[in-house]
Amino acid sequence: MNQIKKKAIILDGDPGHDDAIAFVLAAAFKDYLDIKAITACGGNQTLAKTTLNYRKIATLLGLTNIPIAAGREKPLQADLVIAPNYHGESGLDGPKLPDPEVELSELSAVELMANVLRESDEKVTIVATGPQTNVASLLLAHPELKDKIEAISIMGGGLEHGNWTSTAEFNIIVDPESADIEFRSGVPVIMAGLDVTEKAYILPSEWDVLRGDNEVADIVAQWCDFFYIHLKELGWPGALMHDPCSIMVLVHPEIFVSKDLYVQIDTKGEFTRGATVPDYHGLLGQKPNCKCLLDVDRELFVKYLIEACQSFRKDA
Ligand code: RIB
Ligand code: CA
Repeated sequence: MNQIKKKAIILDGDPGHDDAIAFVLAAAFKDYLDIKAITACGGNQTLAKTTLNYRKIATLLGLTNIPIAAGREKPLQADLVIAPNYHGESGLDGPKLPDPEVELSELSAVELMANVLRESDEKVTIVATGPQTNVASLLLAHPELKDKIEAISIMGGGLEHGNWTSTAEFNIIVDPESADIEFRSGVPVIMAGLDVTEKAYILPSEWDVLRGDNEVADIVAQWCDFFYIHLKELGWPGALMHDPCSIMVLVHPEIFVSKDLYVQIDTKGEFTRGATVPDYHGLLGQKPNCKCLLDVDRELFVKYLIEACQSFRKDA
């Protein structure tokens, strides 16, 4: 049987419960994804907290050989906005995690990302599940490396609505200037926006099967417990797996429905700053810059997510 060619990825995010589950998913998909580096950004919590969280999750997963670097403290222009109402004071409230056994790289996120791109024999996919600050900073500092990026698979935006304002999703509105640089860069974007991530929810009865299954699965269940506290108050049926969509689409694209569109980022709107604005009918005469995920087979999504968590059993 011919060997599956693994996809080299860089994981950038702001853990964050759903970022953390995205990391677990990427680690579980080790036959398909090769995590070359991890870079933290501010977003759900401050940079110091998201960076520490990545180091703890890597320790939990036994991935202490992957370099982890801290990105910029704040967005390119805006002030940092954080989301403790969803993720708590630590950014990853809930279960106790192991003390970090992986040191922080001495490199900045941009330097680490640039090194990975420069040294890779193949193109690298960047998975960005927080504000797009580090990715934009990389594109600004190293335009010569753009051709080494296969695609940028993001969680961000919403073609039809927002969740931080009525028109803007959190990751984009925290740093619209960075998202604008990214969407104009010419590097293909895969956008898991709210259009799909609000359909990719996992029910309490579904994540219950993870309790006690193995150390990682049990912690994922507790992360879902915490993450669902605020989401339940808002009336959602389950925990929204926003960030895991950006990983799942790389391994199981067949469970998603997508459309290639030209998408612009509003950076100036008085009421619409941070909106991801699609040109549905090609009126602007621009080539699509973004594969927009619009729908997902939720049952299959949950099946693959559960199986991924169960794969951390000692006897797996
Ligand atoms: O709007 C959802 C996004 O904002 C997710 O990436 C979540 O982790 C937060 O960063
Ligand atoms: Ca995130």
